[in-house]
Amino acid sequence: MAKIAIIIYSLYSHVATMAKDVKKGVDSVEGAEADVFQVPETLSDDIRKQLGDPPKLDLPVATADTLVEYDGIIFGMPTRFGSMPAQIKAFIDGTGGLWANGALYHKPVGVFVSTGTGGGKELTIYNCLSTFAHHGMLYVPLGYGKAYPEFCDLSQPNGASPWGAGCLAASDGSRQPSETELRIARIQGEEFANTVVKQQKSIAAEKKTTKPEEKTAKTDANASKETKPVVKSKKTTKTAPKEEPKKGLLSRILAKTKKFLS
Ligand SMILES: Cc1cc2nc3c(=O)[nH]c(=O)nc-3n(C[C@H](O)[C@H](O)[C@H](O)COP(=O)(O)O)c2cc1C
Repeated sequence: MAKIAIIIYSLYSHVATMAKDVKKGVDSVEGAEADVFQVPETLSDDIRKQLGDPPKLDLPVATADTLVEYDGIIFGMPTRFGSMPAQIKAFIDGTGGLWANGALYHKPVGVFVSTGTGGGKELTIYNCLSTFAHHGMLYVPLGYGKAYPEFCDLSQPNGASPWGAGCLAASDGSRQPSETELRIARIQGEEFANTVVKQQKSIAAEKKTTKPEEKTAKTDANASKETKPVVKSKKTTKTAPKEEPKKGLLSRILAKTKKFLS
């Protein structure tokens, strides 16, 4: 089963509403299921009161372990001037240890957003990319592929983009995600889940077919073919590059720095 974590921050519940439909999309895919989490709040209760005292979300709080345990991550966030909110940033800034171990390397990741007016709906996701790149995560965009008819419907405002599903909350937060925006959220969940399921299948197949002994046997067979004396070939025998021992990323960097300094 491909497990997908939908990790959100939502002050006025627009992102939380969208998350339910992203989950529906994930759960509609055979072999995939999603759980929804929130990141820890960084605002004090006093500040929340000044911001209209919105109800707190009844969702489990994600930790760095959540990122490791799940096969794919979808972040949901409201924009803050075209960037991720401080709550998501604080959560991500707590993942240095995972970076050092390469724990999120090649893990699929997607993003959906909520904006007041649409200003920054794409940029908010774009601004997440450096984080994903440094972790070596695989960003999966929504694209136009499956949501093309929804994108072509210009009869109503739409907070989504090819970068990810999205809703327009209006400048005073009075607008709720429309049916079209929620449909796109389901499409993103479904398409993301399909990607993760495919990745999991290919990882499982590779594990099955390439047992370490078989790999060595194959290499030996190829080597004996290449050195057959019958055909005179000018081909030079390629030697496989030495593989570094699979240590944590940080210790590998430190080892290289030590060599450089000595
Ligand atoms: C500090 C701050 C900055 C914001 N910046 C933007 C912005 O750049 N563009 C925009 O359309 N909405 C902006 N908004 C509105 C939020 O995106 C909006 O409240 C949010 O999408 C609602 O989602 P939520 O109900 O899940 O919290 C901003 C809100 C705050 C509090």
